Amino acid sequence: MSTQQQEPEPQEPESQESPEDPEMKGAESPQNQRLKEKEQGLAQEETVDESDLEGETVHIKVFRYDPEVEGKQEPRFDDFYVPFEKGMTVLDAVMYARDEYDSSLTFRHSCRQAVCGSDAFFVNGKQQLGCKTQISDLEQPIRIEPLPHQEVVKDLVVDMDHFYDQMHAVEPYFQQEDLPDGDLEEQRQSRENREKVKMSTRCIWCAACMSSCNIAAGDNDYLGPAAINKAYRFAMDEREDEEIKEHRLRIVEQEHGVWRCQTQFSCTEVCPKDIPLTEHIQELKREAVKKNLKFW
Ligand code: SF4
Ligand code: FES
Repeated sequence: MSTQQQEPEPQEPESQESPEDPEMKGAESPQNQRLKEKEQGLAQEETVDESDLEGETVHIKVFRYDPEVEGKQEPRFDDFYVPFEKGMTVLDAVMYARDEYDSSLTFRHSCRQAVCGSDAFFVNGKQQLGCKTQISDLEQPIRIEPLPHQEVVKDLVVDMDHFYDQMHAVEPYFQQEDLPDGDLEEQRQSRENREKVKMSTRCIWCAACMSSCNIAAGDNDYLGPAAINKAYRFAMDEREDEEIKEHRLRIVEQEHGVWRCQTQFSCTEVCPKDIPLTEHIQELKREAVKKNLKFW
């Protein structure tokens, strides 16, 4: 008989799901739950089967305003009836109306695949990208308006200058000083850190979030969810220096920064790229508090 003590069988480590990184561990994060609810809500809203619309016309009511043309300075809605086609989006419908009925109908668009962020409209009372919104998901008549809380330039075109100013206010670019030696040396980022900032990098500068935010509507100086998300994107990136991170936190913790957010989730609700904006704002609040904590 052996006198050697038998080593205990190695035990499988108990699975511990990190609350900081539920996505990496496969757990259901609050954002994933919200996305599921969003999808379920959308599925319930789908009242019309596409095949029911084949051969039909779609009734759209489009906001019109042109400050430069006499007789068009009073805002109004114009009705258009557009022949439905399978897969038709709100952008397709307004393009049809412009091309076939009224070439003066004005709106922005470019990529037609939810990438450029130029065609955010207020569709049936909600901020949505025209090119990502299916006609068959909407109740008719479909009301198409410019983004609320932004100055209207003409028809569906709003002035984006203020939104861009707020984005630039957080200095949305890398500013690290400690670069690796050698021209060809990469500055590496860990997989975990990439996961952490991944969603925040998806912003397409469409301003839907800013337009949906009650706080931004009442406080013109509020940085707004998109700009704060942009600050998060860099402040949480491990490749930036601590000093720069502190500088960014100082920008977002000012009077019209993160503390103005009242966690209403309207921005998160409308973001076409499903960025967890409210969570990012909350996390920056926590970072700002940590930065200011002093221990004696
Ligand atoms: S955060 Fe979302 S809603 Fe806001 S500008 Fe970026 S993509 Fe648009
Ligand atoms: S046209 Fe580019 S996002 Fe819709």
